[in-house]
Amino acid sequence: MTNHRKVEQVVTGMPTTDGAGVELVRVIGQPKLMDLDPFLLLDAFRSDNPDDYIAGFPPHPHRGFETVTYLLDGRMRHKDSAGNEGVIEPGGIQWMTAGKGIVHSEMPEQENGLLEGFQLWINLPASHKMSVPAYQEHGADKIPLEERAGSKVRVITGVTSLGTKGPVIQPLTSPLYLDVSLDANTEFSETLTATHNAFVYVIKGSLELDSTTLGRDQLAVLTKGDIVKLYSTRNAARFLLLAGKPLGEPVQRAGPFVMNTREELNQAYQDYQSGNF
Ligand code: FE2
Repeated sequence: MTNHRKVEQVVTGMPTTDGAGVELVRVIGQPKLMDLDPFLLLDAFRSDNPDDYIAGFPPHPHRGFETVTYLLDGRMRHKDSAGNEGVIEPGGIQWMTAGKGIVHSEMPEQENGLLEGFQLWINLPASHKMSVPAYQEHGADKIPLEERAGSKVRVITGVTSLGTKGPVIQPLTSPLYLDVSLDANTEFSETLTATHNAFVYVIKGSLELDSTTLGRDQLAVLTKGDIVKLYSTRNAARFLLLAGKPLGEPVQRAGPFVMNTREELNQAYQDYQSGNF
């Protein structure tokens, strides 16, 4: 029997400042939605004022989860303690498995113009929190664009109901990460793994879902179910649709570390301070 997903909670992003003074909107990882297992954080940034982003994110550590950067506009340079360096371009994705620890910087590779994108944090299970750090990086040309009647779907990871497969592989949480552009007054539906947690985040325009209207910068946490069906309104819309397998493990987090216990968090600080990353 088909079970349509409904809206469990609507969350409006909270303006905040992070890094060395970057203005962003925190959607997951704020008091109204601390996490949505396995998703720990979602930040959205969108500004054409360099004062809002130029300070960037100077060197900082991560341990115990994955950071996923997806850029719509602008360029970001990343550099890490293991000697990896590169530039994320518009439409590109950087999927970093921080694992046991990495120290990196994320800095705008531009002095003006629009910078727009997202950073998502996805948890790792206890068995993989201390894994060797790894990257999956793909430019816009490696991210398939699925064309449907009235919509275009960029598939970053997971497989759509039409069989389009994203380039990022992560069997631990089996995430689905879609960037959907929808014409005005158009229906969109997609099959989801019924037991996965899922959300929709509106980038542009507005959406109708389960008789709830969602506007820009609003996120809807969805109930469990097989299918999500939604509609754009009188303007074209763009949104992210994400789903992932909940880990169901205890979460202890402090700043850039996300572990299962306080002891492991303390160990992360000690290891970082003693240069053991
Ligand atoms: Fe980072």
